[in-house]
Amino acid sequence: MTDTQAAEDTRRKIILSGIQPTGTFTLGNYLGAVKNWRHLQESYDCYYFVADLHALTVYNEPEKRRRQSREAFALLLACGLDPKESLVFIQSHVPAHAQMGWMLSCLSPFGDLSRMTQFKDKSQKHPEDINAGLFTYPALMAGDILLYRADYVPVGADQTQHLEFTRDVAARFNRIYGETFRLPEGYFPKAGARVMSLQEPTAKMSKSDTNVKATIYILDDEKTILKKFKSAVTDSEAEVVFREGKDGVNNLMTIYSAITGKPMDDIAAEFADKGYGDFKTAVGTAVAEELRPIREKYAALLADKAYLDAAIREGAERASEIAERTLAKAKRKMGII
Ligand code: AMP
Ligand code: TRP
Repeated sequence: MTDTQAAEDTRRKIILSGIQPTGTFTLGNYLGAVKNWRHLQESYDCYYFVADLHALTVYNEPEKRRRQSREAFALLLACGLDPKESLVFIQSHVPAHAQMGWMLSCLSPFGDLSRMTQFKDKSQKHPEDINAGLFTYPALMAGDILLYRADYVPVGADQTQHLEFTRDVAARFNRIYGETFRLPEGYFPKAGARVMSLQEPTAKMSKSDTNVKATIYILDDEKTILKKFKSAVTDSEAEVVFREGKDGVNNLMTIYSAITGKPMDDIAAEFADKGYGDFKTAVGTAVAEELRPIREKYAALLADKAYLDAAIREGAERASEIAERTLAKAKRKMGII
């Protein structure tokens, strides 16, 4: 084994992920993504960022954008990402992302980009605004990942196509210009719960649901949370078991399990001789308890403007240093003088 190989084996692996600042995170974002990001901090070098450049692909009022980017950053810290342990930053504060995104878009086949499901979905949803940014979104995302030489990228199922695209672009670059980028892999944690709508449990819980009763936002207060769980759609069997066809109950059990760590069988036993009313109260209470410290930390962060500003600035500086190194290397290889 060579020295470089040995160093490669003992190197702490790099995790990177981003989230768009398009509204308060849901319980789905938290249990499916951000909570796991927090745990990964213990074993990996972690980079997490607010993907504000990606959010530009859909129109939003400037004032709202400003507020949402700041809030998303504060939410990441409130959820337990520690700026001392991880690198937390806002994408647009690191100009290398936009530069790398452009360079990689010149290696992105039109055909591949047109096959992206997210592009097709969003074009359908916003037929009045099918812009070039929406189309080249995957090249920008590839840049995000490759700039930091990420080993693993935790993403939901909807993003795996973009990750494959990233690997393809990286491999193409390496083939044409010589070994430059590390090819990232997806990271799918066992504990990553998929949370469904409380009102329509066959659909994913989403930030943009128009029915407010369907979604738990991580800043909801205890009363609101309990009320939403009370009105959650279940079935008429009055039986707390995880079984096909019981989408509503399965969802509540998944949430309860993700928070308490209890396996499904234990949950079924716990509520064997109780009704759905008791079960819903138990799930609501567990969720409210889990989210309380996040809500409190978030309020404290927003109240401390100086601290938040400094954390944002420091994140940008540290991220820039790393990103600039990779960008310089890629430019050199491509022949940009
Ligand atoms: P989005 O809100 O679609 O920008 O997603 C941000 C992150 O949260 C991604 O990693 C998603 O996979 C994850 N996520 C979003 N909604 C859910 C959900 N209902 N259940 C689990 N994970 C989710
Ligand atoms: N496209 C991702 C989403 O919508 C957000 C994102 C942007 C991202 N750049 C990334 C995720 C890089 C992981 C890595 O959820």
